[in-house]
Amino acid sequence: MKNNSSNLNPDKISVSGKVYYKKTTDSTNLDAKRAENAPDKSVFIADMQTNGRGRLGRDWSSPKGCGIWMSILLKPQGEICDISQVTLIAGLAVSRVIEGTSIKWPNDILMSNKKVAGILTEMSAESGKIKHIIVGIGINVNNKDFPEELKDKATSLYIETKSVAERESLISGITNEFFTMYDRFLTDGFSVFKEEYTDKCATIGKEVYLITDGEKRVAKAMGITDKGELIAESNGKTEIINSCEVSVRGLLGYA
Ligand code: BTN
Repeated sequence: MKNNSSNLNPDKISVSGKVYYKKTTDSTNLDAKRAENAPDKSVFIADMQTNGRGRLGRDWSSPKGCGIWMSILLKPQGEICDISQVTLIAGLAVSRVIEGTSIKWPNDILMSNKKVAGILTEMSAESGKIKHIIVGIGINVNNKDFPEELKDKATSLYIETKSVAERESLISGITNEFFTMYDRFLTDGFSVFKEEYTDKCATIGKEVYLITDGEKRVAKAMGITDKGELIAESNGKTEIINSCEVSVRGLLGYA
């Protein structure tokens, strides 16, 4: 089945940072990494990625002209901040703009219990100072179908809503929303977003598998801390889970 596919029109993208657009690239995260002199809040966008990368070393399927494959380059001044919190805020920005979504902690965006978007955040630092943070956002927008191995866990806006969405306005909406939230985060921290994040988080209240180094155990997700960590309970004990260390899977289905 052919996807709903077209090239982006970069002139229709209206964001407060500088936009770098390519029809095809290996990965927009790599584009951002290579752009040493690009200013803070630059946005790298492509219509297709030949080497789209996901979390935990996975590939990210990035077919031509039907998704949003973009990376935001951030150059915060000062000490290292917690990039997992920046990722949570990016997920919340996506979820604010795309109606009907929820979040699987830490940063999978879901519709109908399947993944519609994901975020890969990478950081480079030197002597305790951040050189840059790259927030890579992948959203399945107008895909009509997915490869067999992704069918039961991935979905797109088109599959969910039966209508073709304009990617330029989604890119503009999400990026500007994220910039506003990120500026607030730099002054006030993650805690101001905790309540909204918790409300949108489909993981809370569910039994989940916590997976560390291939080892799987069952726990109940109870809440989110002021720092964006997951509060889980297993065998009567409360644990605070950091997204860098533990991966979380639903007991029933993807979420
Ligand atoms: C995940 O595994 O959930 C994260 C997926 C992140 C994909 C995006 S697409 C734009 C950017 N470039 C990449 O190579 N990856 C991110």
